[in-house]
Amino acid sequence: MSNKKYEVRHKYDSTAEQYENRYTAIQKQKYFEIFSDIDIEEKTIVYDVGGGTGLLLNYLKQDNITIIVNDISLEMLKVGRKKYPLGFFVCADSEFLPFREESGDFVTCISVVQNLVNPQKTIDECHDIATKKGYLVLTALKKIFNIKILKNKVKKSGFKIIKSWNLSIEDIAIIAKKE
Ligand SMILES: C[S@@+](CC[C@H](N)C(=O)[O-])C[C@H]1O[C@@H](n2cnc3c(N)ncnc32)[C@H](O)[C@@H]1O
Repeated sequence: MSNKKYEVRHKYDSTAEQYENRYTAIQKQKYFEIFSDIDIEEKTIVYDVGGGTGLLLNYLKQDNITIIVNDISLEMLKVGRKKYPLGFFVCADSEFLPFREESGDFVTCISVVQNLVNPQKTIDECHDIATKKGYLVLTALKKIFNIKILKNKVKKSGFKIIKSWNLSIEDIAIIAKKE
């Protein structure tokens, strides 16, 4: 594992217990701005890549939605599993996702890629696990990522951009579709 990955994992492992106290309000505002435009009606599988403690799982919870939360930090996932015992939590590096190809209707990756050494590899993995009609929902810190650069990475992986914009706090957001 690279030094940067090790450091990132250590940072989130050691602050996992405080994460929701610090960030729930901020992350929920981001989810609200992203998902107010998206209707999820049919039975849907969501992979939340870098999903941490499962805040998105809590936000989106509906009977028709199954969310699989992935993260590199075991401690973040443990906090999540305690709060949301019915959720699915999978510890893995987003550069090597252990999910079946073309199995996710939505792949979300919210406030994660600014932590990564090679964001392209993770976006490519998101593309692999999205179904043919699947969507990617990606956000990243504005102060670290230029929206043009991030859009190019999304396009390079094979997704088509549907919408990209500045969220009211912290992040830029991109919604893209595989086909
Ligand atoms: C700012 S938090 C966002 C968590 C969650 N998406 C949310 O909305 O609350 C960033 C998350 O990315 C995870 N992460 C960082 N690098 C990762 C990697 N290589 N693979 C999987 N998760 C990673 C961190 O452990 C952390 O939980």
